[in-house]
Amino acid sequence: MDLKTAAQAVRKNAYAPYSRFKVGAALLAEDGTVYVGCNVENVAYPEGTCAEAGAIAAMVASGVQKIVEAYVIADSPDPVPPCGGCRQKLSEFAARDVSVTLATTDGVEFRTTVGDLLPGAFDAGHMDKS
Ligand code: THU
Repeated sequence: MDLKTAAQAVRKNAYAPYSRFKVGAALLAEDGTVYVGCNVENVAYPEGTCAEAGAIAAMVASGVQKIVEAYVIADSPDPVPPCGGCRQKLSEFAARDVSVTLATTDGVEFRTTVGDLLPGAFDAGHMDKS
């Protein structure tokens, strides 16, 4: 299944009774598999999780740790940018040049990269003074 179709499909499973804002994410991983995730909210609001985080968790749980392409879709007027935490999570498992397509359910797409979403990303090198 292509990333767009997978993200559209998983978005329908989002649990978003509080924001009413359903998000779907699909990741193509280096093993060729598409991993999907949706946002899962909670009555204790900070406990909710984003679609991207769910897809990343599914990928890692399957034993794969490298994203080669990402697609995120929501029913928004403009393609919704991932939150700051999800930008950091994506950059943990994707190279800077990995393509991220942000889409609306109306068919508007904005294509960017992991590096452009998180310039100056913190990485392990920033902990190494030697
Ligand atoms: N949300 C995501 O799942 N991914 C994003 O990139 C932006 C925001 C979710 C979190 C929350 O459930 C809802 O959208 C409103 O913030």
